[in-house]
Amino acid sequence: MNRNKEYYVHESAYVDEPCEIGKGTKIWHFSHIMKNAKIGEYCIFGQNVNVASGVVIGNNVKVQNNVSIYTGAIIEDDVFLGPSCVLTNVTNPRSQIVRHNLYEKTIFHRGATVGANATIICGIKLGRYSFISAGAVVTKNVPDYALMMGVPARRVGWISRHGIPLPEPDTEGIVVCPESGYRYKEVEPDVLRCLDLDEDASLPPEKAVGKVSYRDLKIK
Ligand SMILES: CC(C)(COP(=O)(O)OP(=O)(O)OC[C@H]1O[C@@H](n2cnc3c(N)ncnc32)[C@H](O)[C@@H]1OP(=O)(O)O)[C@@H](O)C(=O)NCCC(=O)NCCS
Repeated sequence: MNRNKEYYVHESAYVDEPCEIGKGTKIWHFSHIMKNAKIGEYCIFGQNVNVASGVVIGNNVKVQNNVSIYTGAIIEDDVFLGPSCVLTNVTNPRSQIVRHNLYEKTIFHRGATVGANATIICGIKLGRYSFISAGAVVTKNVPDYALMMGVPARRVGWISRHGIPLPEPDTEGIVVCPESGYRYKEVEPDVLRCLDLDEDASLPPEKAVGKVSYRDLKIK
């Protein structure tokens, strides 16, 4: 940890002042946090990450290498941004036209995952625990727990809070995550809910450590 600071900044990284960074957060090689960014506790920023002015980031957010988080992004707790994913903040950029006051808001709700090399078009919301597959291009709002794939990204199914694609439901409409045992149900068209844990509650610690590999859990 840096002297008098409760967070860690690698000597090759820059943190402009003023900005707020919570305890336990780590900022790794060649990253740049710009002024007025607000970052929560226990986040990890990998190599070559840029956080622009005014960005707001919650707790326990993991940002992999080569990600730029532009002004207008709001990133809630437990979000995962995969390596080299692309965020945007102007839908119709033109070099001749200054739009500094017109940056569009993009909200990454709690627990959302963005896969490697995916692109998020600005002005949309990614739902809680939604999962954007590697390489997808997301152009519209994404529901909670949606598994999104392709260009443009479409919902190809549901995925659990533990990141396991969910199979077809039983006759009562219930589907169980093979990793956690939590039950899920589509309570209305396009709205999936966990029946055993509120979407805004933290995971109990014993459910927060993976014990079986994805390949072994995968539903055949
Ligand atoms: C979405 C994801 C979880 C699906 O994994 P999976 O369940 O093992 O998928 P499968 O290999 O069974 O593929 C199912 C189908 O989806 C296709 N598919 C899988 N991932 C895809 C992707 N990212 N984009 C487009 N299609 C994809 C497969 O080709 C397959 O198609 P088919 O049925 O026509 O053969 C995974 O592909 C993914 O994108 N993970 C993100 C990885 C990542 O970015 N990690 C970052 C940290 S290192």
